[in-house]
This record gives sequence, structure tokens and C-alpha cells, in this order.
Amino acid sequence: MRVFSFKWLRLKLFWRNTIFFLLFWVSCWIFVNTFLYVHRSMFSDHCTDEESKDILAGLCYDYIEGAVAGDLCEDLCVTHQLVYKHCLYYHPGKKVIEADWHGSTIILKSKSEAFSNFMAPFLLEESDKQTVSDSELLVMVAVEIKNVLGLDLPNNTIMPIMAERKRSPNWKVEMASMWSLFQQEEYLLFNLLQDFSRHVLHVIGTCGHFYAVEFLSAGHAWRQSLFNLEEVVGQCSNDQKRMKALIDIAVSFLDMVRQFDNDFSHRLHLCDVKPENFAIRNDLTVVAIDMDMAFFEPKMQNILEQKCTSDKDCNFFDCFSTCDLNTYMCGAQRENNNLQVICDKIFRRWFTLSIMKSGNSFPLQEKLHKAVQQCAQSTNKDTPYIELYKLLRASQKQLQKRNEEHP
Ligand SMILES: Nc1ncnc2c1ncn2[C@@H]1O[C@H](COP(=O)(O)OP(=O)(O)O)[C@@H](O)[C@H]1O
Ligand SMILES: [Mg+2]
Repeated sequence: MRVFSFKWLRLKLFWRNTIFFLLFWVSCWIFVNTFLYVHRSMFSDHCTDEESKDILAGLCYDYIEGAVAGDLCEDLCVTHQLVYKHCLYYHPGKKVIEADWHGSTIILKSKSEAFSNFMAPFLLEESDKQTVSDSELLVMVAVEIKNVLGLDLPNNTIMPIMAERKRSPNWKVEMASMWSLFQQEEYLLFNLLQDFSRHVLHVIGTCGHFYAVEFLSAGHAWRQSLFNLEEVVGQCSNDQKRMKALIDIAVSFLDMVRQFDNDFSHRLHLCDVKPENFAIRNDLTVVAIDMDMAFFEPKMQNILEQKCTSDKDCNFFDCFSTCDLNTYMCGAQRENNNLQVICDKIFRRWFTLSIMKSGNSFPLQEKLHKAVQQCAQSTNKDTPYIELYKLLRASQKQLQKRNEEHP
């Protein structure tokens, strides 16, 4: 009897353990599959190394076939001094690839993956054409800039961006590549503005429809400070130094706003303001790294002036006007401005009292907090720029003094 109950007990224990074990495995399986499903559906639109390498392989195929040209093609396709590192884009956005070029990091960009997706310049369609005159080229480029950026540029501004391509023996291929780049708003903007602004990315070179720009420390929405301060100014030993760096960056944002509002022949509107679209150089200069949604005044007016039934039809990302209910047309003039959006989407994250008080406080922090709140809610009639600028400069001095007293 005793032997029987002992055996029965062992059997019961065995079954219990087996059931526990099975349950454990089933729940692990469910957990892993759910995780994979969520991960896949969240990141399915993220680029992969395989497809990005294929895109560059396609570009090199075109280069070897003699269909594209550019000063970086040899390094990318022949000497392999330009090497793929990883991709940074989401589908169906533009292709953004990080690469190593002679030991330093650069970024390759193109609106579309294949060269064939761009239109060929109409002058090249006349196959017997042996060359193209300066004036023909000038008109072509001027028309393209008018189409893409909505700008009428003087000849002396257009000449430098045409480079020397048409004199090369390979001029047809060079022209076709140049044309694929000219169809990309961002390339044109970088190219036109890089000599005039510290707040625009430098173009390093091109190959076919890809252009290479300098690699900088880009912003990230998930960071409390939005930018990786350690990466640019080294380890910040205390909160005061971090706050000083943030205020330096804020001053640079203001400088960019002033320049984009006043220094070009037309105001430049930024309609996609978020930390990811800006980067900082080592000297804490702010740089606009994504200019797909940057528009000069004439194009901005064209974009805004649409039919509407209510104000919400007149919102274009971070740029808006209002609906005139007599004409059912949106106003052509943007009713907010770059500073208002930057205060709302960037400065508000930095100058909250909780963050400022978590470090060493400084006398102007409450005023700064209030000024940023007001600026974020301002309209074009308000002029918060000067007050904000003065407050930031004064805060810079206060923090500088403290850092010197307590290094
Ligand atoms: N010059 C650059 N230096 C460092 N990172 C960059 C640079 N250009 C782009 N990136 C990174 O790649 C991301 C996507 O580039 P972006 O031009 O913003 O493309 P998209 O139009 O798809 O938003 C950016 O948010 C940034 O993180
Ligand atoms: Mg972007």
C-alpha cells in the first residue's frame, strides 16, 4: 500500500513538473512571437543593409556602364575608399546612407534609389548635339531652379553651381548626373546656400544621383537634451556646463532664424522642425540637415494658397495660414514663423522649470522659461526675438561666470 502511494506521488509530481515545463515553454513561445511581431510591424519601414548596399551596387553598375559620373564615383566603385557603413532612412523617404570616406564618416543622400527615376535634361535628347552653349545651359538651369525652388536667380548665382561639367569630354554623362541632382530640392538648397550660411550642410561631392554631405551630430527626440552634448563638447562634468552648452546651442538657433528670415533674397521657411532634422558642429553651431521641407517665400505662398473649407485645411506641417471663408482660399502668407516653431518644438523641451531646477539654478531661468512659453505661442504680430536673445546672452554670461568661479 505504502509502495503504491509513493509511486503515485512520484507520478503526480512528474506530471505536475511536465505540465509546468510545457506551460513555461508555451508562454515563452507566445512572448517571443508577440515581441517579434510587434518589432517587425514597428520597424518594417526601416531600411535594411541589404537593400541599401543593392542601391549603391546599382549606382556603381551605372557608373561602370558609363551612364553616370561624379567626383566620388571612382572612390565608391573602383578604389573602394568610400565604403558603406549603415543606412538611416525609413520607407518611402529619401535614401540616407552613412559611409566611411578615407577614414572619416560622411552621409550619402538621394531622393530616389535609381538614377533612371530622374528625368534626363531635354537638351540631351537631341542625340547629334556635340556641345551645349553657356547661354543654353544657363537658361536650362534657371528654369529648373524656378521649377524646383520657385526662385528667379541672377546669372552670377547660377554660374558657380553649374561647375565645369559641360567642358569635360564626358559632358553628356556629367550633365545627366547633374540634372538628376538638380531635381532634388535639398541638393539645390545645400548647394546654393553653403557659401552664405554656417547653418547649412556642406556638400562634399557627388556620384550620379547621390550627393555626399558632412556627417554631424544629429538630434534625437528621445534625448532629454535633444542633442548628444557629450559627443560635441566632451563629457559635461556638471549640470551647469550642460545648461551652458544648451544655451549656446539656443543662441545658434536664434542666429539661424535671423539669417533665414533676413539674409537671403527671400525668407526661408522651415516647415518640418524637429530635433532629428538639425545637427550641431563641434563649435555648437546649429545646422539644418533635412531641407526637404524648407521653402523660400514664393514657393511657400504657392503651397499655402489652396482651396479650403476650414483653417485646418491651411496647415502644412509646421507652416500654416487661415481659411478665408468668403473666398474659401487659404491665405498665401504664412501666419506663424520659424522662431515660433523652434520655441515650441525645441526650446520648450529645454527650458522647462523642472529641468532647469534639477541642475544648479541661475537667476534668469524663470524669465527664460516664461519668454520661451510666450514665444511658443506667439503670432507674427509678436516679436519675441529680441527679448529671447537678450535673455539667452545674459544667461550665457551668468553661467560662464559661475563655471569660472566653480570649475
Ligand atoms: N549630415 C548628417 N549627419 C548626421 N546624421 C544625419 C545627417 N543627415 C541625416 N542624418 C540622419 O539621418 C536621418 C534621416 O535624414 P533626413 O535628411 O532627415 O531624411 P528624411 O527626409 O528621411 O527625414 C536624420 O534624422 C539624421 O538622424
Ligand atoms: Mg528628417
